[in-house]
Amino acid sequence: MERQELRHDGVEHSARCSRFTSPAPPPGVGRVRDTPAAEEGGLDGGQEGFFNCRLKGRVVGEATVYGDGGKPTRRETAAFGRSRLESWRQIGVSRRKANYRSSISRAKVLQCEYAVRGEVAIHAQRLQQQLQTQPGSLPFDEILYCNIGNPHTDAIARAKKILSMIPGRATGAYSHSQGIKGLRDKIAAGIASRDGFPANADDIFLTNGASPGVHMMMQLLIRNNRDGIMCPIPQYSLYSASLALHGGSLVPYYLDESSGWGLEISKLKNQLEDARSKGITVRALVVINPGNPTGQILDEQQQYELVKFCKDEELVLLADEVYQENIYVTNKKINSFKKIARSMGYNGDDLQLVSLHSVSKGYYGECGKRGGYMEVTGFSTPVREQLYKIASVNLCSNTTGQILASLIMDPPKAGDASYDLYEEEKDSILKSLSRRAKAMESAFNSIDGITCNKTEGAMYLFPRIYLPQKAIEVARAVNKAPDVFYALRLLDTTGIVVTPGSGFGQVAGTWHVRCTILPQEEKIPSMISRFREFHEEFMAQYRD
Ligand SMILES: Cc1ncc(COP(=O)(O)O)c(C=O)c1O
Repeated sequence: MERQELRHDGVEHSARCSRFTSPAPPPGVGRVRDTPAAEEGGLDGGQEGFFNCRLKGRVVGEATVYGDGGKPTRRETAAFGRSRLESWRQIGVSRRKANYRSSISRAKVLQCEYAVRGEVAIHAQRLQQQLQTQPGSLPFDEILYCNIGNPHTDAIARAKKILSMIPGRATGAYSHSQGIKGLRDKIAAGIASRDGFPANADDIFLTNGASPGVHMMMQLLIRNNRDGIMCPIPQYSLYSASLALHGGSLVPYYLDESSGWGLEISKLKNQLEDARSKGITVRALVVINPGNPTGQILDEQQQYELVKFCKDEELVLLADEVYQENIYVTNKKINSFKKIARSMGYNGDDLQLVSLHSVSKGYYGECGKRGGYMEVTGFSTPVREQLYKIASVNLCSNTTGQILASLIMDPPKAGDASYDLYEEEKDSILKSLSRRAKAMESAFNSIDGITCNKTEGAMYLFPRIYLPQKAIEVARAVNKAPDVFYALRLLDTTGIVVTPGSGFGQVAGTWHVRCTILPQEEKIPSMISRFREFHEEFMAQYRD
């Protein structure tokens, strides 16, 4: 057994870790104190825990978490996922000494990056804790999270009401692996009424949010690293992360910032041919509409061209339509890719299409409830059976999320008692988001050295920051991407958290940050003035 005394970012930890290969390691071999709050589900700050490590067994860690009064509150088995890695990294166990990590340090996991939960977000949590324990020790008194699309606060009250309307609340049993049939019927009816084309409950797979749907499709499509998926750049990091985990190749197609993040089919075709010439079998194309992090809405013509491109090139079209309700312009509307394909006369025999939707976004924003679905059309029966098998390995998605997914596709109708209130709330949330988008966009554009495209939909702005060469060199000298360097300095100076653009991909030599439009409206003016002041000082310091 070895003992480590570690100092990590000013917080003292002690940890002991020993190497076990036996199937049942004795309890209490490791001890952790005063951990900073783990990102998700780990050991919470102020608590203490014991963990066991096993090198060769499948379980690599177990923790008993102790709450106030020293009573054990829960026992956890370590997951292999990033959050657990993050927890352990946070508690300061060094790579060299923490031998248990060798069993989980598979290349794909290490390679996978998830920008929106990355270095800046973790640093923000540390600062948040510092503000709690040492008020006044930082040049700001609150952390303002503009880095992730978590619109939860606006929706709690409505979600409670909806839940209380559900008869029986009988959500405790396993369901069919694709989800409860009655709920899938509701979703299919909702899709049919949205698109004006029929939909079938058998094509619906209910999922814990859109993310597991993406993972399932990657698992289905990717055989090895010679299989490629075309993704927009910039892209939401779920796609690059999932591709890395499943060992496939990302084939980029670039969105054009100068034309409002538009796309040109001829450029897509070039990228496709380039990948094919390198021996990559391109199997699918991802389109995110409205875009994350870019906030653009494709016009109808671009959608037609994309559908035709996928049909002609025999690519599965993975249509991420989770922001289909988030539209802030009047000159464009959202058409689902299914509607576009059917209106072109293409049916299941012509195009393999997967449409992803989620309860996490829109005006409902129930992102912690984990509900979503994918509608899968055009796949042969044997392939569908494999997809069903993947779904059934997880038994079923959570039933509360299933219910919510059905509700977003079956909202109150004119004449229902709740309709007026529903419309009023929906309208007021979307209008408020639209005002915030416009206010933040024009504020960014009024700052020297920043340009920002219009947010037509989704929940983000992706301003371009024209960083001076000197700042880029200083960032490189400390081994940071220049936009990460900028974002960390912004956080340290103002408390504002944004996600660096490099996590989403960007044209080489350009630098961006992603900022949500979700700060409360009344906080936006002061946030913008803090941002402006910081930016001007930063630029003055590094001016070329
Ligand atoms: C474009 C896009 N797709 C998918 C997701 C995943 O959402 P969820 O798994 O919460 O449904 C997100 C989340 O931000 C997103 O922005």
